[in-house]
Amino acid sequence: MSDVVDNPEGYFRQFIPKRDQLLVELEEEARREEIPIVGPIVGELLHILARVTQAERILELGTATGYSTIFLARAFTSTRGRLVTIDNDPDMAARAATNFQRAGLYQQIDIIVGDAQEKLAEMDESFDFIFLDIEKEYYAAVLSHCRRLLKQGGLLVADNVGFKDADPFNRLISGSSEWRSVNLFAYLPLHSPEKDGLCLALRR
Ligand SMILES: C[S@@+](CC[C@H](N)C(=O)[O-])C[C@H]1O[C@@H](n2cnc3c(N)ncnc32)[C@H](O)[C@@H]1O
Repeated sequence: MSDVVDNPEGYFRQFIPKRDQLLVELEEEARREEIPIVGPIVGELLHILARVTQAERILELGTATGYSTIFLARAFTSTRGRLVTIDNDPDMAARAATNFQRAGLYQQIDIIVGDAQEKLAEMDESFDFIFLDIEKEYYAAVLSHCRRLLKQGGLLVADNVGFKDADPFNRLISGSSEWRSVNLFAYLPLHSPEKDGLCLALRR
């Protein structure tokens, strides 16, 4: 007989972290419009990781309505914290800007509108933490930029690595001497999709 709880998926749904009204609204909006956001489990994980790594400069690729951005920016412990987020959809970027105002985070977040690969090529600042959440087919292509822009010992988190299109990225990072990485395949209630992979990688 297994020691694991019966019906683990039902069991773990009761432990979904509580969110404020703004995040709940963004979840409802995402459900209605089928916007693939990370949901409260990965959102909380991002917040905890950003907090424990004391990240003061965060880069996010893939803003959408700013749901994951808000979890990340709320991890800043001082007004020095700065987050840069890139999305190629101007409508999404405008909606995210409104949500950052509502969250009281507008001063700390810069939204860049454009293709991630092109915008990354123009950047030369250093980040403590990068969250990767654009179209999965581009993950492998942006990895060298992520390495260049992440400080040594910085953390890269990539969402949706369970997608077929993330396979080249998974192979590249797991075989690379430039990263120390782990892939987790997990049940993530309210994540899009609920069973998916996450990659956590330390830049060597
Ligand atoms: C999965 S959604 C991001 C969800 C968001 N991180 C969250 O959890 O709240 C992906 C976003 O990446 C943007 N995107 C996709 N490919 C991109 C690219 N090549 N460059 C910039 N943005 C891209 C899309 O417009 C979309 O808003």
